[in-house]
Amino acid sequence: MSENTEQPNTESHDPKVPEAWASFMREGWGDRELDLPPHPIADWAAARRTKLAEAFPGERLVIPAGTYKVRSNDTDYRFRPDTAHTYYSGNQTSDAVLVIEDGDHVLYARPRSDRDSDEFFRDRQYGELWAGRRPSLKEISDSLGLEVKHINDLPSFDDEHKVRDITTDDDLARVASEQRLVKDEWEVGELQEACDITALGFADCAAEWDRVLEFGERWVEGTFFRRARAMGNDIGYDSIVGGGKHATTLHWIDNTGPITPGELVLLDMGVEGRNLYTADVTRTLPVDGRFTALQRDLYDLVYAAQDAGIAAVKPGVPFLAAHEAAMKVLAHGLEDLGLLPVSAEEALAPDSKVYARWTLHGTSHMLGMDVHDCGRASDEAYREGTLTAGMVLTVEPGLYFQEDDLLVPEELRGIGIRIEDDILVTADGRTNLSASLPRTSSDVEEWMAAQRR
Ligand code: GLY
Ligand code: MN
Ligand code: MN
Repeated sequence: MSENTEQPNTESHDPKVPEAWASFMREGWGDRELDLPPHPIADWAAARRTKLAEAFPGERLVIPAGTYKVRSNDTDYRFRPDTAHTYYSGNQTSDAVLVIEDGDHVLYARPRSDRDSDEFFRDRQYGELWAGRRPSLKEISDSLGLEVKHINDLPSFDDEHKVRDITTDDDLARVASEQRLVKDEWEVGELQEACDITALGFADCAAEWDRVLEFGERWVEGTFFRRARAMGNDIGYDSIVGGGKHATTLHWIDNTGPITPGELVLLDMGVEGRNLYTADVTRTLPVDGRFTALQRDLYDLVYAAQDAGIAAVKPGVPFLAAHEAAMKVLAHGLEDLGLLPVSAEEALAPDSKVYARWTLHGTSHMLGMDVHDCGRASDEAYREGTLTAGMVLTVEPGLYFQEDDLLVPEELRGIGIRIEDDILVTADGRTNLSASLPRTSSDVEEWMAAQRR
């Protein structure tokens, strides 16, 4: 039997709890309902566990959900479970540990706080009256179709079996990442939904353009976040809202600047859905609703590069095919602008890459429950691997002219443009999951005009 003998997580300023109050709190309660229907992930997760167990026969695989992380003093960040844990179990509650051993799969979970200890009314992290009703072990089990035991019964695993904990075992982390490279049908649906909600979030921002002009980058960040929370779980990564020259800082997440008429603004934002799959989409918009001639030329160049990159995505080609196709277009465009110190073809040689002064980053990464998904996969399986139907990757070339770059004409300095879409590899090519947002310069202008209230 598991007993909760832990001290509740309390703070120094919490009131003292005399026995009279504590014992009075333990009596006279009914129950409260929790609606936790069977989760559609259950069968998918079971198949994934079987596949993982087959890769490590006779071994014990430990995959924790993780716990709260302190933001400051007694205040934690909102909990988000470890990706592999949820991928293989479906569970999203904190402090759980999934243990897989051949055909034996058990989730050790922290249940709801029962009413015979002080936890339910005193514990800030787990107490029902502080943090809400956690599911019982039976509710988790019924919902996920998985055997669930109390976390306090997690064995010490000091018998003869080999134990691999994904937080310390590189091989297990690698295999788990590689198994996530190809998405199952349910995951593709989740990614499509994340992209669809993301498109609504972008539209919300364009609809509030007067406020955007008034409050700057912060208004875009907040507006998108509202949509993410309303329809999804969260944002999948900190939104990047780069007004003007901020667009040339690749991960500009301060979002403290103005949105200035006449300039461009780069929005790189993605909603994480309720089952933790995230979109990752970038659009670069003209603040005035219309591109200037120069902005349009540069935008159209990035668009052509992205279009070539997307067209290169299909089963059987190298993961890097999209990058190579996009960089070819950009290098030639930079040559046409008279910026390259050598010819475009010379610049594209693997031992040169001087064009990348203005393109900076890779064109693609895998996308799934993590924005940079499958990050522990081997080079052979990922960066040097081959695309297969079911993979989802971004195609996101950009051009970035830094404000202090003396090698470009002054009129280009401080301009950053990126276009990013989320591409599913299909049996006969590709599907753009984020295609509902406009990509061409004229479609962007039309879309902005249509959203604006
Ligand atoms: N949003 C980060 C990236 O595009 O990779
Ligand atoms: Mn990306
Ligand atoms: Mn992005």
